[in-house]
Amino acid sequence: MIEIAIDGTAASGKGTLGKKLSEKYSFPYLDTGMLYRKVAYELIKSNKINTEKLEQTCCDFGTIVTFKELKNKNLRTEDVTKLASKIATFPNLRKILNNKQKKFNNLSKKKYGGCILDGRDIGTTILPNADFKFFITASLEVRAKRRLLEKNISFLHENDEKCMLQNLMNNMRERDNQDSKRKISPLVPAKDAHIIDTTIINPEELLLIVTNIIENNMSC
Ligand code: DC
Repeated sequence: MIEIAIDGTAASGKGTLGKKLSEKYSFPYLDTGMLYRKVAYELIKSNKINTEKLEQTCCDFGTIVTFKELKNKNLRTEDVTKLASKIATFPNLRKILNNKQKKFNNLSKKKYGGCILDGRDIGTTILPNADFKFFITASLEVRAKRRLLEKNISFLHENDEKCMLQNLMNNMRERDNQDSKRKISPLVPAKDAHIIDTTIINPEELLLIVTNIIENNMSC
């Protein structure tokens, strides 16, 4: 049974890698950031961002979140993105969501012989004994450009494009800092992770690098 842990910064290519590995090896894949995003989304939707019991409210939403609800494009807005990073600092919420991730991994391994998770603390906390650990990153500017392209905005004036890119870079820098400097389960590479910089490589090249590592180190 194979566990593959993928961690890294936003827009580094880790999600695309997770999906491609899932197609290649037929193992279930979970983008664990979506769990934090779903809780943030529910907080915004129910107008409870300023509640005094913010952590408890997050835990209540975290307890009832199901994997089926995670395919929703509303979970990708900038507001949800910022709030997800903020609430991800709550230890009690992390405990609840960690248990869900571990259950997903155990069930997937039993049923399909393997599992792929991507996030911020997969190799360090969720799957510390994963067979393969990857830490994916890229320069801030390249990551922001990828996000801008995903937004698919055509006919943007050159100055507006520069301004949007700058905003995306500022937001990403802030989120990278929050995710990597928090006390609990910060975004850091596991000691035994393969660190890959995707600044000048495309998703296919990344897949090739990663599958070579996996296939050259399979025990059977
Ligand atoms: O991967 P993402 O951008 O969708 O994640 C959104 C936020 O969720 C991210 O800024 C930090 C948090 N997160 C986390 O703390 N731990 C994880 N395993 C996954 C995401």
